[in-house]
Amino acid sequence: MTYTRIIGTGSYLPERVLTNHDLEDIVDTSDAWVRERTGIAERRVAATGETCGDLARRAAQRALDASGVPAEEIDLVLVATCTPDRIFPSTASALQRSVGVRPGAIAFDLSAACSGFVYALSTADRFIRTGGARRALVVGAETMTRILDWTDRGTCVLFGDGAGAVVLEASDTAGVISTHLHSDGRYEPLLYVPWGPGQGYSNLRHKDRYIKMRGNEVFKIAVNTLSRIVDETLDSAGLQKSDVDWLVPHQANIRIISATAKKLNLPMDRVVVTVDRHGNTSAASIPIALDTAVRDGRIQRGELLLLEAFGGGFTWGSALVRF
Ligand code: ACO
Repeated sequence: MTYTRIIGTGSYLPERVLTNHDLEDIVDTSDAWVRERTGIAERRVAATGETCGDLARRAAQRALDASGVPAEEIDLVLVATCTPDRIFPSTASALQRSVGVRPGAIAFDLSAACSGFVYALSTADRFIRTGGARRALVVGAETMTRILDWTDRGTCVLFGDGAGAVVLEASDTAGVISTHLHSDGRYEPLLYVPWGPGQGYSNLRHKDRYIKMRGNEVFKIAVNTLSRIVDETLDSAGLQKSDVDWLVPHQANIRIISATAKKLNLPMDRVVVTVDRHGNTSAASIPIALDTAVRDGRIQRGELLLLEAFGGGFTWGSALVRF
């Protein structure tokens, strides 16, 4: 039996910090409102000219360094993003070149909004378990601030930029125990970006380039859906809530994270929280949180991790991982 193990993690955040107080000068909001309703105090913003691909490259290089695997031994490169540098080539093909993954390896981008990293981890796990790849570089990278309407206080206070990465390797022992992916396209009107290149440029209105969200409705569905996926994930593996050592959730809102922790009977000191410093970095948020807790020594080898995410689509998913 072949399993997938995480053998290295890495992350990168742009230098520029944008605090809630900074946002008070941009939209009609307050530090108190944003902290209380979301848990966010600050987020990072990519520099002018710094792209999603740049963030991905730095995070990937750190994950490769941590794994000890030379880039030329990677067979599969996946980048989960909804803010790619270009329509094509994919961010993954560009990353293959920039970090020196061998020519001829597999590389593609994957789009599942905030669930993107869990989707990419699941995809890479399936490649590895079925022998299609032996080592994979899986990245979540986003420049969300480039698709924000800075006049819409309902969305512009929520998101930030960043990237996180893992290196995966085939192993005799688990590893990734199970992954669970779902989508329901009927919810598009609650969370979407109106414009995409397939629609052509002639009707492009300025505001249509940015995220639109009915946050309150998304919030309620996210809480209920994530509660269900906790049960689905544990039941499929025959595990109990008490077996989980760490919840590594998508970082959208501290109230959503707390509700999921409560469902797991997990105290908040067993939950990795970065939303306070990074905001919602979409597909990057889980690998950034994972890397943060691995590097500061909280997450140890052999511990059981539950990763979960919910986002545009709607998409949602989870992964149960023996680290
Ligand atoms: N500052 C001050 N007031 C604000 C702000 C702001 N930044 N934003 C909204 N408000 C106001 C609203 O106008 C409203 O005022 P009103 O009562 O006078 O009409 C009031 O605050 C309450 O607004 P709600 O939207 O009901 O606030 P809520 O408590 O739901 O919090 C939030 C909003 C933070 C967006 C929350 O709903 C949320 O986190 N939703 C889920 C987001 C999410 O998980 N998205 C999925 C991932 S994203 C992706 O996939 C790309």
